[in-house]
Amino acid sequence: MRTLQVALAERSYPIHIGEGLLDSFPLAEQVRGNQVMIITNETIAPIYLDKLTRQFAGIQCDTLILPDGEKFKTLDTLETIFDALMSKRHSRTTTLVALGGGVIGDMVGFAAACYQRGVDFIQVPTTLLAQVDSSVGGKTAVNHPRGKNMIGAFHQPRLVLIDTLVLDTLPARELAAGYAEVVKYGLIRDPDFYAWLETNNQGLLSREAELLAEAIYRSCENKAQVVADDETEQGNRALLNLGHTFGHAMETATGYSHWLHGEAVAVGMIMAVHMSRELGWLEQGLEEKLTALLASWKLPVAVPQGMTPAQFMDLMAMDKKVLNGQLRLVLLKALGQAVVTAEYDKGALDSTLEAFCGV
Ligand code: NAD
Ligand code: GLY
Repeated sequence: MRTLQVALAERSYPIHIGEGLLDSFPLAEQVRGNQVMIITNETIAPIYLDKLTRQFAGIQCDTLILPDGEKFKTLDTLETIFDALMSKRHSRTTTLVALGGGVIGDMVGFAAACYQRGVDFIQVPTTLLAQVDSSVGGKTAVNHPRGKNMIGAFHQPRLVLIDTLVLDTLPARELAAGYAEVVKYGLIRDPDFYAWLETNNQGLLSREAELLAEAIYRSCENKAQVVADDETEQGNRALLNLGHTFGHAMETATGYSHWLHGEAVAVGMIMAVHMSRELGWLEQGLEEKLTALLASWKLPVAVPQGMTPAQFMDLMAMDKKVLNGQLRLVLLKALGQAVVTAEYDKGALDSTLEAFCGV
């Protein structure tokens, strides 16, 4: 097992990464009270819920199985969680355990932030995306019909337990979507890691255990440092959104049904790199190398057919990074040196959108 620390003074917590931790890590010792509720979904429960429940023999351990899917990441489902907690008489010293991908993690984290004005929670992420990104850093939320992740809070977990073995059952497409977020860390702040990913792309595709564990560790290390420096996104935490502004526009345009989040981010990152080169900030070649790397994991590398530059501009105007009417974008000054800025030549944005939309 390897351990990292998210350094946030009194809210600091460890991230434990290892094979078989669902069975072997003494999780019950980390719980402050004598009640836990494990919350998961109907896909994950049959595979992993019993294993995790056995960890809490001897204290009150309730379970709640929710329907699977982003469409259930809502205030209605939150109410189901609160109903279950109250009906089982969970007190302020309870601990919620999120067993699942980013949907479960974000939702259970938000329930923990709200229940009795805040209770402990533990993240047990089961997708690659959740292991390298969403389980670390305390962003919790549910969706509103008018916008994704619009209702939420910052609420840090007490610990993150990453069992790399759970990825064995993750569908290949979900694994690849997670790799998009892994590559993001290399691009924005860790050029050595980026080079390592290029060297090991085939082994990662075939899920070689040691390579996967290393990719998860180095991603979490990067994320933990970014979060420790800027917990509530007043500045550099926004760099974690490389490719996301373009990506969200594509997700919205396609009704969130066409692509997984990581797939849209993959194309969005290529667009951000292209635009950075148009601005003269990046040398030639990175866009081609990044496209080849993402394509080797079978991630999409082109925008959805029929999308227009005007549609992109319209949808990107809704981005959370818009400040005083100015669209701020995460761009690269060099490999490993990201900036979030509204100070760019708008012509470079236009020509990037035109190039990708084929007009
Ligand atoms: P997800 O939670 O929907 O999981 C993807 C699918 O994989 C689901 O069907 C799930 O049931 C299944 N699954 C999960 N683990 C499995 C396993 N081990 N074996 C087999 N199947 C498994 O999707 P996701 O990509 O993990 O998360 C996406 C969510 O994360 C979005 O809601 C997004 O907004 C959020 N997110 C949050 C942050 C953050 O910082 N809080 C960052 C990135 C994304
Ligand atoms: N996934 C972006 C963030 O945690 O800030």
